[in-house]
Parts: sequence; C-alpha cells; structure tokens
Amino acid sequence: MKSEQESASSLRRKRNIKCLLYIVAGVILQTASTLVFVLTFMRIRNPKGRFGSVAVENLIVNSSTSSPSFFMKLNAQVTVKNTNFGQFKFENSNATISYRGSHVGDFVITKACASARSTKKMNVTVTVNSSADASNDLNLSSDISLGKLTLTSHATVSGKIHLFMVIKKKKSMKMNCTMDVDTMTKAIENLYCK
Ligand SMILES: *[C@@H]1O[C@H](CO)[C@@H](O)[C@H](O)[C@H]1NC(C)=O
Ligand SMILES: *[C@@H]1O[C@H](CO)[C@@H](O)[C@H](O)[C@H]1NC(C)=O
Ligand SMILES: *[C@@H]1O[C@H](CO)[C@@H](O)[C@H](O)[C@H]1NC(C)=O
Ligand SMILES: *[C@@H]1O[C@H](CO)[C@@H](O)[C@H](O)[C@H]1NC(C)=O
Ligand SMILES: *[C@@H]1O[C@H](CO)[C@@H](O)[C@H](O)[C@H]1NC(C)=O
Ligand SMILES: *[C@@H]1O[C@H](CO)[C@@H](O)[C@H](O)[C@H]1NC(C)=O
Repeated sequence: MKSEQESASSLRRKRNIKCLLYIVAGVILQTASTLVFVLTFMRIRNPKGRFGSVAVENLIVNSSTSSPSFFMKLNAQVTVKNTNFGQFKFENSNATISYRGSHVGDFVITKACASARSTKKMNVTVTVNSSADASNDLNLSSDISLGKLTLTSHATVSGKIHLFMVIKKKKSMKMNCTMDVDTMTKAIENLYCK
C-alpha cells in the first residue's frame, strides 16, 4: 500500500519535471524562432536620412564678374527615418554641403537615438560660403546671374540598431540631398533626397 503511494507520487513528480522541461524547451524554441524570423524576414535595414525642410535665413550674393561669391545661413531640419523594430543609436557625424563639387559648408549631425519605427527630427544650422572652395568655379558667375545655385549635401552617419536589448547590429545611414537656392526669392526649390 505504502510503496504504491510512493510510486504514484514519484510518477507525478516525474510527470511534473517532464512538463516543466517541455515548457522550457517551448520557450527556448519560440525565442529562437522569433529571432530567426526577425533576422531573416524582417531584415535590419539602414535608416534613411534627409532634409525635412530647409530655410534660407541670410543670403549675400556678390555678382561681381571678377570675384563672384555667395554666402548664406540655412536653417534645416534633418530627419532620420528608422523602419526597424529596434532603436537606432548613432554617433556624431560631419555632413558637407557642396556646390558643383566644391566644398562650401559643413554641419554636424549630433549623436542621438531614433526610436523603433519612427522618424527623429533634428534642427541644424549651416553656414555656406563659396569662398571656402568654389570661388574659382567657372559656372559661379553665370549661376549667380541666373539666380539659381544648386547645392548638394552628403553625410554618412554610423550607428547601431538595438533589438530586444541583446542584439546590436552596426548600420549606417547615408544622406544624399540636392536642392536649388533661388537667390531672388531666397526660396529652396527641388529639394530631393535619394
Ligand atoms: C563684390 O566683390 C568685389 C570684389 O571682391 C568687391 O569689390 C565688391 O565691393 C563686392 N560687392 C559687394 C556688394 O559686396
Ligand atoms: C568632424 O570634423 C571635425 C573637424 O574637421 C573633426 O575633428 C571630427 O573628428 C569629425 N568628426 C567625425 C565624426 O568625422
Ligand atoms: C526646430 O525648429 C522648428 C522651427 O524652426 C521649431 O519649431 C522647433 O521647436 C525646433 N526644434 C528644436 C528641438 O529645437
Ligand atoms: C567667407 O569666407 C571667406 C574666407 O574664408 C571670408 O573672408 C569671408 O568673410 C566669409 N564670408 C562671410 C560673409 O562670412
Ligand atoms: C557650366 O560650365 C560648363 C563649362 O565650364 C558649361 O559647359 C556648362 O554649360 C555650364 N553650365 C551651366 C548651367 O552654366
Ligand atoms: C548622390 O545621388 C546622386 C544621384 O541623385 C548620385 O549621382 C551621386 O553619386 C550620389 N552621391 C553619393 C556620394 O552617393
């Protein structure tokens, strides 16, 4: 009688342990398959950078044919679009502004964090001065007299996508924008980011 009871309780204990093992194995399997799913089907993508808006605050144009030049201050909004299911933490990076391939200005994209599946907006101020590099450009004089300056902006921002607090994947964001500055109206036209 007694030994029957004992064997019944030990059987129950064995069954409980088995049950627990199944649960643990199930949790591990589920976590692993979620990870595989995330890593293969929801591939971690590079965030996208662009100018949300650009405003010309200050504009000085000298149309002297001997030494044409332009100077301006831009107030811009840089957006970091992160489509991943984890946040994007990025480092300080330098962005450049060019006119016909000549370097005419820089600004810094300061380190920050774009939350999962969201767009981070940042304000930047850029000083653009053609004297830096573009004063010998052969097109400068005609561009100034036509009243249209085409500027491009490039940046590479490196950072990491953090997933489930354990996975960190290095990703970088590239920004490549083109815009026209109408020197008569001080308006930005044809703002386009790849
Ligand atoms: C334009 O530049 C020339 C040559 O540097 C200078 O003599 C002239 O004063 C400038 N004009 C203006 C309006 O700044
Ligand atoms: C940005 O440029 C400054 C000055 O040119 C330099 O000291 C700094 O290291 C650069 N930062 C990065 C992230 O390249
Ligand atoms: C960025 O600029 C816009 C308008 O220029 C302003 O409304 C906003 O408060 C600024 N944001 C920050 C974080 O400075
Ligand atoms: C543009 O840069 C040149 C040389 O770097 C400087 O002499 C000039 O004062 C700058 N222009 C403005 C409006 O700051
Ligand atoms: C720019 O300059 C090149 C030659 O230096 C010329 O062929 C071209 O037509 C110019 N473009 C504009 C828009 O003035
Ligand atoms: C930026 O985009 C233009 C096309 O829109 C392309 O020709 C150029 O090579 C790109 N620049 C960089 C640095 O990727």
